[in-house]
Amino acid sequence: MAGVTLRNLNKIFTDPQSKKEVHAVNDLNIDIHDGEFLVLVGPSGCGKTTALRMVAGLEETTSGEILIGDRVVNDVPPRDRNIAMVFQNYALYPHMSVYENMAFGLKLRMLPGLAWQLTHMGEAAKIKTDIDKRIKDASAFLDIAHLLERKPKALSGGQRQRVALGRAIVREPQVFLMDEPLSNLDAKLRVQTRAELIKLHRRLGITTIYVTHDQVEAMTMGQRIAVMKDGLLQQCDTPLKLYHEPVNMFVAGFLGTPSMNFVEAQVVKNGARPLVDTGAFQVHLPEARTAALQNYVGKSVVFGIRPEDIHDKALTPPSAADLDNVVRVNVDVVEPMGSLSTVYLTSGSHTLIANVDAETRAKEGAPLDVVIDGSAAHVFDKETEQAIV
Ligand SMILES: Nc1ncnc2c1ncn2[C@@H]1O[C@H](COP(=O)(O)OP(=O)(O)OP(=O)(O)O)[C@@H](O)[C@H]1O
Ligand SMILES: [Mg+2]
Repeated sequence: MAGVTLRNLNKIFTDPQSKKEVHAVNDLNIDIHDGEFLVLVGPSGCGKTTALRMVAGLEETTSGEILIGDRVVNDVPPRDRNIAMVFQNYALYPHMSVYENMAFGLKLRMLPGLAWQLTHMGEAAKIKTDIDKRIKDASAFLDIAHLLERKPKALSGGQRQRVALGRAIVREPQVFLMDEPLSNLDAKLRVQTRAELIKLHRRLGITTIYVTHDQVEAMTMGQRIAVMKDGLLQQCDTPLKLYHEPVNMFVAGFLGTPSMNFVEAQVVKNGARPLVDTGAFQVHLPEARTAALQNYVGKSVVFGIRPEDIHDKALTPPSAADLDNVVRVNVDVVEPMGSLSTVYLTSGSHTLIANVDAETRAKEGAPLDVVIDGSAAHVFDKETEQAIV
């Protein structure tokens, strides 16, 4: 077992047509701990696959170092890196059975040629027994033991996915690399396979780098999440830390559905404690969080609040700290979701989305008093988009 270290990793492509340079991965530094499940997430084109391919050895680095354990592997060929990959388009061999699909790579790797096998029959038999045991163990664990004789075309999408996983597991790698391995599955199967992958990781404890552009997948699966944008790492931390303490507007807006509300505002002086004034309403932050705002008095900022931190006052009366954070808004749309209701609100020229208790009496076209949770408020620098609070 081993961790993976990315040190000042860069990849610059030259566009074959325009000859322009694309900085696909820009000075990436991440320490993936031994046994960790790290999710690499970000919008399309941000460099996730490129980063993963460099770890796999399928893409040369422009500069920087990749370590697996203590070993720098930049010059180690892919097959000697002791990693296994599962990609979105995990092609299974259509003419081979599930068993043969899982055995094929192992045999190539573990068994020298036929001539050797004929002169070392005892050893060859031992290796074959070992391969057989690995396949039986993995297929039992993945619940595909009853499918070993079938061809891929006689399997469901989810079963094929598990065969692809099985093929990677039997390699007993030090590191798993997975690039959107669930994206071919329908919604229900995705959720199910997601849980299976987590169980698998718990059981095997193999260091895993998992690429997705799906923030829900990232939040539910990652022990830590690395958020990338335009080749640059934005923040790497636990899911809850990213959710509650995003370092900038990009991370704040990327994680969570519906996304965090952003409203242009000003920091204004209010006795000793500055407050945030959006023009339409004001938000008072708890004292501990206003220190950083002192430097922004009189300046434009962006106020951020997550939908679940705006409450229907009739159902969630304000705490003492939020007595001044009650805002009368207009209700545009009410979407009952069952366990809660998503309401679309306007206040002056601002629009807000709130997830309120399903018992809400909010009516489309009518006013509603909401409470903004000042302790969950975020404030960003308007120019740099970095978090101030
Ligand atoms: N071989 C290549 N030549 C030139 N540019 C490339 C090459 N491969 C990737 N790129 C560019 O590098 C950037 C990063 O691509 P990459 O495939 O790593 O993105 P990604 O984050 O995996 O996106 P997606 O979520 O769509 O899979 C993109 O701008 C892409 O166009
Ligand atoms: Mg990709």
